[in-house]
Amino acid sequence: MSLLIQEVLASDAPMELLLLADPSEDKVRSYLSGSKCFVASSDGAVVGACVAQPLGAGAHELMSIAVQPTHQRSGYGTALLKWVVEFFRKSGASQIEVGTGTFGYQLTFYQKLGFRVTSIDHDFFVNNYAEPIFENGIQHFDMLRLTLRYSDNVA
Ligand SMILES: CC(C)(COP(=O)(O)OP(=O)(O)OC[C@H]1O[C@@H](n2cnc3c(N)ncnc32)[C@H](O)[C@@H]1OP(=O)(O)O)[C@@H](O)C(=O)NCCC(=O)NCCS
Repeated sequence: MSLLIQEVLASDAPMELLLLADPSEDKVRSYLSGSKCFVASSDGAVVGACVAQPLGAGAHELMSIAVQPTHQRSGYGTALLKWVVEFFRKSGASQIEVGTGTFGYQLTFYQKLGFRVTSIDHDFFVNNYAEPIFENGIQHFDMLRLTLRYSDNVA
């Protein structure tokens, strides 16, 4: 797998890709300009993207991560997430947070890299999105907040 990962300007963020992770373009645009955007390319084509927003006090929030559907389940998402985790570790960050649904493969995707559940935001997906969000026929209601604390993962 040959993957080039680099930080790009928010204005160059691949919006179509980011919408796979967050269906609201308004929401994506609202956090994009104050965030760092990372893009993964293979053979010159963009295959993945990730956006992280600073929360202050050395914490960052992963706002979005997505891989082109044609390239999913090939390890690109894991490689991109690992790269971003290392990027912030090297920058001296204290932790990375992410919000995700209470079920589905995304939950294990984050946990495999050391993210732990730290809180639950009840009815988040009902209160923050105009349309109900379903996955595998089940409606998403609540959002889990997961945190990777660098002090828990000393190499
Ligand atoms: C989440 C996402 C970025 C993962 O990227 P990826 O390149 O597919 O991930 P990987 O190939 O590294 O696989 C990671 C794990 O997720 C699993 N996985 C990925 N896509 C899956 C799917 N559609 N269904 C079930 N499992 C899936 C893989 O099997 C793998 O599990 P394993 O380690 O047990 O084999 C990608 O699937 C995606 O873009 N999804 C849509 C957007 C999204 O949901 N983003 C996250 C918002 S919280």
